Amino acid sequence: MEIRPVHPHFVGAVSGIDITRPLSPSQVAAIEAGMDRHAVLVFPAPGLTDEQQCAFSANFGELEVTLAGQMAKPEMRRFQKLELGDISNLDGENKLRARDDSRRMYALANRLWHSDASFRAVGAGYTLLHARIVPSSGGNTEFADMRAAYDALDNDMKAQVEDLICEHSIVYSREQIGFEVRADENPDRLRPVRHRLVFTHPVTGRKSLYLSSHIGGITGWPMPEARAFIRDLIEHATQPHFVHAHQWRVGDLAMWDNRTVMHRARRFNDLKEVRDLRRTSIKGTGLTMASMGAETGAQAAE
Ligand SMILES: [Fe+2]
Repeated sequence: MEIRPVHPHFVGAVSGIDITRPLSPSQVAAIEAGMDRHAVLVFPAPGLTDEQQCAFSANFGELEVTLAGQMAKPEMRRFQKLELGDISNLDGENKLRARDDSRRMYALANRLWHSDASFRAVGAGYTLLHARIVPSSGGNTEFADMRAAYDALDNDMKAQVEDLICEHSIVYSREQIGFEVRADENPDRLRPVRHRLVFTHPVTGRKSLYLSSHIGGITGWPMPEARAFIRDLIEHATQPHFVHAHQWRVGDLAMWDNRTVMHRARRFNDLKEVRDLRRTSIKGTGLTMASMGAETGAQAAE
């Protein structure tokens, strides 16, 4: 297996491995080491099936059940595996979603910079996204390196952010695009959770900014001050030199570490063209409330 760097800070293009087949422990270790270093890896995986994607993903930890999968009625889902997220603009009958379709509008928040599932007490570690159908133009996924963004802060800012705790909820990201999440769906899922703003990687020891559009507050701060501060930080962290745009080809599997990169989807003509990607996510380690000390321990149980 070889990894070719495609950006000065992060992102590697992988070759010489067939991820449709079971991996050896040394192959899994090599991929994990590649993730520690590059934070985003792109594999060529034409023909990868849903089952193979789940099997490959399971090498790296416990798979998450997607929030959308839990919320949608079974007949509205395109596939039944709850571990497989439907990142497409198709409905249960494989038709393009209409402009005012609530699932479409809900998913438009993915065009904001975010870290997957940061609104959960345990956010996502790796996300794996496999391209089945891609539009003729647009629809890139952009990644921003939160380690390089942290490194570029001056010492004053590093000291300011060091102990901050952010409050994340799916409600906060959706309200930024004017979409109201229905509180009756699953109120426990909407309650804000807290995460440290500075993440220290358990293997490399590198620090990064755990930012996300799901953030709506900083513990102990007035909300407007928190939101202005977070907006500034996201602006800093997503400057062009920290960003890589991945242009999808059918069969690509991109795998990224949500603890060290943010990402966003870019627009395409989703009312006319199909974009069908399938997502699996691994529960994050090192982001749990247990690592945050006793004062926030009560929240961890929620
Ligand atoms: Fe995402």
